[in-house]
Amino acid sequence: MSLRPKTKRILWISAIVIVVLIALGAWFTWTKFFREEKEVFANEEEHFKYGSLGAEGDRGIPYYLWMVLPRVFPDLMPGPGGYKSLGVVWEEGHEIPVGSSKKVVGFERITNNCAVCHTATYRLSEDEVPHVVVAGPGHTNNVQSMLRFLFKAAHDPRFNSDIIMNEIRLVCANNYGNGGLSFVDRQIYRYLLIPFTRKALLQQEKQFTWMERYVTGGKPKPDWGPGRDDAMNLTKYFMTNMPEDNTFGPTDFPSIWNLGIRSGKDNAGKQMLLNWTGDTPAVRSVLIDSALGLGAPARPWFLRRIADLDHYLSNLPPPTWPFTETNPINQQMATEGQKIYARDCAACHEPRAEFTNKVVPITEIKTDPDRMYSWSKDAAAEANRRVKKLGIDRPPMVETQNPYGYVSPPLDGVWLRAPYLHNGSVPTLRDLLNPPNERPQTFHRGYDVFDPVKVGFKEPPSRPTGPTGELTQPYFLFDTREKGNGNQGHVYGTQLSSQDKEKLLEYLKTL
Ligand code: HEC
Ligand code: HEC
Repeated sequence: MSLRPKTKRILWISAIVIVVLIALGAWFTWTKFFREEKEVFANEEEHFKYGSLGAEGDRGIPYYLWMVLPRVFPDLMPGPGGYKSLGVVWEEGHEIPVGSSKKVVGFERITNNCAVCHTATYRLSEDEVPHVVVAGPGHTNNVQSMLRFLFKAAHDPRFNSDIIMNEIRLVCANNYGNGGLSFVDRQIYRYLLIPFTRKALLQQEKQFTWMERYVTGGKPKPDWGPGRDDAMNLTKYFMTNMPEDNTFGPTDFPSIWNLGIRSGKDNAGKQMLLNWTGDTPAVRSVLIDSALGLGAPARPWFLRRIADLDHYLSNLPPPTWPFTETNPINQQMATEGQKIYARDCAACHEPRAEFTNKVVPITEIKTDPDRMYSWSKDAAAEANRRVKKLGIDRPPMVETQNPYGYVSPPLDGVWLRAPYLHNGSVPTLRDLLNPPNERPQTFHRGYDVFDPVKVGFKEPPSRPTGPTGELTQPYFLFDTREKGNGNQGHVYGTQLSSQDKEKLLEYLKTL
C-alpha cells in the first residue's frame, strides 16, 4: 500500500519540524550550559590571579548566586564586608577577588585557583592600599571559614529561589555586575542553578566531615585560621578514599615564586624535595596535584596550563625588600650578617646546598610533629595510583619516608613569608631567633600591616568586640599551645648575641 501524497507531505513536514526542534534544543542547551568562552589576560600575572583551571564543571558557583550569598546570609559571615571578611585579597576595580576566576561555561561561573592561597599582601600602615604580591603566602585568607560559610548557607532555609532571586533582582537593579539577567536566564537560575548548587554544596560538605571531627583526647580540631590549611588531609580525603585517621596537620601556605631553585637536583646530584615533609620530588607533580585538588579535570588543556604555570612560577623572582625609604637595609650590617648566615644557616638553606630541600630528621629539627603524622607512604601510594588512573604521567609522590622530619626550604623572599615555620607558629623572623620559650605564646594572624623591624606582621590594634573583649575575625588568635600549633624547635641562631642577631636579620632581609 502506498501513502497518499498529502499524508506523505504531512509526514515529511513533521519530520523536519522535529529535527529543527531537536537542533534548537541542542543549540539552546549547548549555549546555556556548555559553551565555553575563552579567557583573555593582559599578562601571566593577571592569568595567575584570575585565570580558570577548568574546574567549572565540578566546583563552579553561578556568578549571580555567588555575588548575593553574603547579602542573603550576612549573619553566617565572620564579620561585616562580605567576602572581604574572609580575608580574601580584593584589588580595586575588580568584580571578583584574587584567587577566583569568572568563566563562561554556558553561564558565568566562579571557581578558585592557586592564587587564593598563594598571593600575599602587605601594608606599611593602616591607611595604605595593600600591595599585592603574587605567589606569596596568602596569609590573610581564611579558606576554612569560606568552606564553612558555604556549607552553612546550603543548610539554611533562606537558600531558596524566591529569596535569592529577589536579592539578585535588587543587585541587578543597581546595575551592579555587568547589568541584569534575561527572562530566560532568570528561569534557569530559579529552577535549575539555585537548587542544583545547593545540592552540590551539601554533597561536597560530606567530603569535609573530617575537618569538623575531634582529635584524640576529645577536643575539637583547632581552626586552621587565615593563611593555613590541613594540606595533606585535604589531599588524602580528596585524591584518595583513605579512611579517616584522626590526624591534624595544619600547614602554613608557602611562597611559590622562584620554583626554579627548588627543582631538579642539588649541587651534589641529589634529588631536591618539595612540600613541608618532602612528600613530592618534582615541581610538576606538586602543580598537577594542587590543580586536581581544586577540581581541575584531567584533559590535554590542563597539562598545557600546568606547563605554563611551571614556566611562570619557576622564573618569577622573589620580591625584594620594599621599604627602602622608611627602613633601608644597613649594608654594612648585612655584610656582617652574611658571614653568620654562611656559618650557621647556609648548609640547610642556601639553594642547592647539601641539606637544602632535603628532609631534616624530626629528632634534629624538633618542630611540631603533627603535620608530619598527617601523611603516610600508604597515602602517597594511593594518590599515585589515582593520578595514574586519570592518565596523567608525573613523577610519583615519595612512597618511602626516611628520615622522617621537615624539609628545609631556601629562604628567598623570606621577609614576606611570615608567620614562620611549617605551621606558621612564629610571627616574626626576630622571634624565630629567640629560644622557643621566649617566642610569643599567642599572637594574631590575618593582619597585613608589616613590621619592618622584627620582620613579620604587626599585632592588629585592639578593637574590643563584646563582653570578652576579643578581636573579631578576620584577625585570628593563634595559640601555640593547641594541637599542631607548637612553636618549639629550630633553635639555630638562638644562642647568638643580640648584635649578631640584628646583623643576621639585616642579611635575611636581602634574600
Ligand atoms: C587551599 C589552598 C591552596 C591552593 C588552592 C593551592 N595551594 Fe599550593 N600549597 C598550599 C599549602 C598549604 C602548601 C604546603 C603543603 C605542605 O607542604 O604541607 C602548598 C604547597 C605548594 C607548593 C610546594 C612549595 C614548596 O616549596 O614545597 C607548590 C609548588 C604549590 N603549592 C603550588 C600550587 C599551585 C600551582 C596551585 C594551583 C594549581 C596551588 N598550589 C593551589 C595551599 C594551596
Ligand atoms: C640543620 C638544618 C638547618 C639549619 C642549620 C638552619 N635551618 Fe632553618 N629550617 C630548617 C628546617 C628543616 C626548616 C623547616 C622546619 C619546620 O618548619 O618545621 C627551617 C625553617 C626555617 C625558616 C622558616 C621558613 C618559612 O618559610 O617559614 C627560617 C626563616 C629559617 N629556617 C631560618 C634559619 C636561619 C636564619 C638559620 C641560621 C641561623 C637556619 N634557619 C638554620 C633547617 C635548618
